[in-house]
Amino acid sequence: MKVLGIETSCDETAAAIVERDAEGRGRILANIVRSQLEEHAPFGGVVPELAARAHVSHLDRLIRKASDTAGVPLARLDAIAATAGPGLIGGVLVGLTTAKALAAALGKPLIAVNHLEGHALTARLTNGVEFPYLLLLVSGGHSQFVLVRGVGDYERWGTTIDDALGEAFDKVAKLLGLGVPGGPAVERQAQSGDPRRFRFPKPLLREARLDFSFSGLKTAVRLAAEDIAPLSETDVADICASFEATVTEIVATRARQALVRFRAELPGTAPLLVVAGGVAANKRIGTALRKVADESGTGLVIPPPGLCTDNGAMIAWAGAERLALGRQDGFDFAARPRWPLDTPGMAVDAA
Ligand code: KG4
Ligand code: ZN
Repeated sequence: MKVLGIETSCDETAAAIVERDAEGRGRILANIVRSQLEEHAPFGGVVPELAARAHVSHLDRLIRKASDTAGVPLARLDAIAATAGPGLIGGVLVGLTTAKALAAALGKPLIAVNHLEGHALTARLTNGVEFPYLLLLVSGGHSQFVLVRGVGDYERWGTTIDDALGEAFDKVAKLLGLGVPGGPAVERQAQSGDPRRFRFPKPLLREARLDFSFSGLKTAVRLAAEDIAPLSETDVADICASFEATVTEIVATRARQALVRFRAELPGTAPLLVVAGGVAANKRIGTALRKVADESGTGLVIPPPGLCTDNGAMIAWAGAERLALGRQDGFDFAARPRWPLDTPGMAVDAA
């Protein structure tokens, strides 16, 4: 089956066509992403109204381009999938309404996809991984451990009690004047910095729970920067390296703990750690997680960077997985600005 996926929940407008064969293997036929970085750059962050308008301006063209690139006319699609939340409501409405219009005009099923489910299932598209697995989802809006038992079957083991990890990267970049997107900018600076120069706090880490907290860390970074202002290039690089090393240690420690829980709760299942979301593109964090996985005899899958950050292929794939299980959604499906992965009713067999 061939599914069109539309993603408009934040500042990427994206359309993709993904194929799923009878054995459940996936193949990306087209994956077109248009970032809105330039529109939002002057404001230092994503402006929801501008984002929604930009989605309106570009989505049609991107869908046509995906269809041309894949060589798949819209009439030959098996379903239309779109992010229906969580995200900025104006943008989600643009994508979901476009999907509804296409599905109605073409007489195809509509699949309303949870954006987080798109991230959660990407490793099945890229690496064909089997259920169950432990997902570490680290993006601009989320930092959580999720036990993925099946399509729609998620159990959240821990989350952030304040800022998301990507958000912490973005805020540190902003206070250092590094521009957007913050994560890659901080990572670039960190490469030439000294990760041991600053000792930043690791909030919550002494507690056994699998939750994160990053807002105190961000404040500590701000105070350290104010303390030594004006900042030289070396200072900026050292702050970035120290910050990155600190969050890496936090994430690695939590991953170790989560894998202990995985083994305890799923004895006899080979543990597998899947990392998803934009921050999964970070090299230092990836390397540390590789070490944690190797030490505990766990498989590790991190999809390629372009499929860790927001894209249409992950939405098309989640749509294909749901469609393969006989799920589709009505045209009355309302956009959801908030939509946790473990919401009752997500499960495919719950319908
Ligand atoms: O998954 P994503 O594209 O969008 C959301 O759904 O949030 O994640 C974007 C987040 C941003 O906060 C960005 O700064 C962060 O991922 N990010 C990174 C890197 N690349 C993207 N953070 C650290 N290192 C990176 N290389
Ligand atoms: Zn995302």
